[in-house]
Amino acid sequence: MSLYAIGDLHLSSSVNKPMDVFGSAWENYTSRIIEGFSTLGENDTTVLCGDLSWGMDLAQSLDDFKLIDSFPGKKIILKGNHDYWWNTVSKMKGFFESNGITSIDILNNNCFEYGESAAVCGTRGWFYEEETGSEHDKKIMNRELMRLEASLKAAGDREKYVFLHYPPKFGSYACVEILELFRKYGVKCCCAGHIHGKSLKYVFEGEYDGVYHKMVSADYVSFQPQLILGSA
Ligand SMILES: [Fe+2]
Ligand SMILES: [Fe+2]
Repeated sequence: MSLYAIGDLHLSSSVNKPMDVFGSAWENYTSRIIEGFSTLGENDTTVLCGDLSWGMDLAQSLDDFKLIDSFPGKKIILKGNHDYWWNTVSKMKGFFESNGITSIDILNNNCFEYGESAAVCGTRGWFYEEETGSEHDKKIMNRELMRLEASLKAAGDREKYVFLHYPPKFGSYACVEILELFRKYGVKCCCAGHIHGKSLKYVFEGEYDGVYHKMVSADYVSFQPQLILGSA
């Protein structure tokens, strides 16, 4: 039983979305994702850190959900900036249920207990700097902070592993508001995605302010889910 993470599958089973915008690294990416998941087992859990499917609504993303559902183990999903199909939790759950999708769960204002003592927490996050951000950015940021705090609170005394779409530490940027919450709730590890192509050179990985930061966007990790907890 192990915990894995990968972000930004950007699946497009039903939508013609050329992925060369993200560079040549994305050639044959769907088959590489399928191969990447093939090493996992039914007792494993994978957190998918946003940008799952290019579908514009749930129906258009159905084939992508079916593919994700076919991967071994449980999948926990969170929202990325390109998940236009995202809906209310009850609508998404109802849609999965009526289409026989049974292995996908949703991380949104909640947390998932993992093993004896760990918890999977998270939300989408946001890139925000007080000096340069607009009022609109600030509103989105505050909403994301509330979601993250609700998730961290729900985890109680468990060891907290946070999964976001937007990395809170990237190049010289640090999202002080999110890092503050990490400190307050004693977060151990943070995985994020969203970064692709040329921007990957600014990725920060390692310990920052007592939290281990890891980038799991699909092209950064060669389309292989990354082991976060447990053994491969
Ligand atoms: Fe993104
Ligand atoms: Fe992405």
